[in-house]
Amino acid sequence: MSSTGQHSIIPRRFASILVPRASRLAPLLLTALPLLAAPIDETKLPAAATNTVDFLRDIKPILHASCLKCHGPEKPKSRFRVDDRAALLKGGDSGVAVIPGQSAKSPLIHYVARLVPEMEMPPEGKGDPLTPQQIALLRAWIPCLRTPSPRIAHRRSHLAPRASRLAPLTRP
Ligand code: HEC
Repeated sequence: MSSTGQHSIIPRRFASILVPRASRLAPLLLTALPLLAAPIDETKLPAAATNTVDFLRDIKPILHASCLKCHGPEKPKSRFRVDDRAALLKGGDSGVAVIPGQSAKSPLIHYVARLVPEMEMPPEGKGDPLTPQQIALLRAWIPCLRTPSPRIAHRRSHLAPRASRLAPLTRP
């Protein structure tokens, strides 16, 4: 109980600001990973889906059916959770699992594509492997994690060209 007692003093929301473990380690891990692990053959990954990915429709069902029983709020394996966006971005015991801009470099994708021996997710015999279509959807979803609300980002990118169209290019 002693290790958890210490954390309960600080609300979780602030604890993640005070102890940005994953973000502090991220640059280090990103540089060290290719040196430590056997190289991942990214050409073996299914390409990212090109259709619009909707979290509730496309992603949540995959995470719930294949990952949640081990990576939910209660005693998540490797302290990695898929039920909460912030927790998912933070990663687990071995660091970040998703790199928002780079799905092909994200460990989570390597694990579900079963490219890392002993780290196949779901583990061998503990659930059906994800289909290439499911992996393609997860790959397409990872870039959406970059911004707090994909919908806002989407709207902004539409505003930009409109604003520049309105700006007078020359004064008469
Ligand atoms: C039956 C339980 C089980 C299921 C289902 C499962 N995992 Fe895991 N997961 C584990 C275990 C156990 C580990 C720790 C493995 C180790 O470190 O050797 C782990 C580790 C991980 C890690 C590394 C976390 C870290 O930082 O150490 C990621 C990422 C991950 N799983 C993603 C997933 C995803 C995504 C799914 C669903 C597609 C999934 N897992 C389904 C048991 C499971």
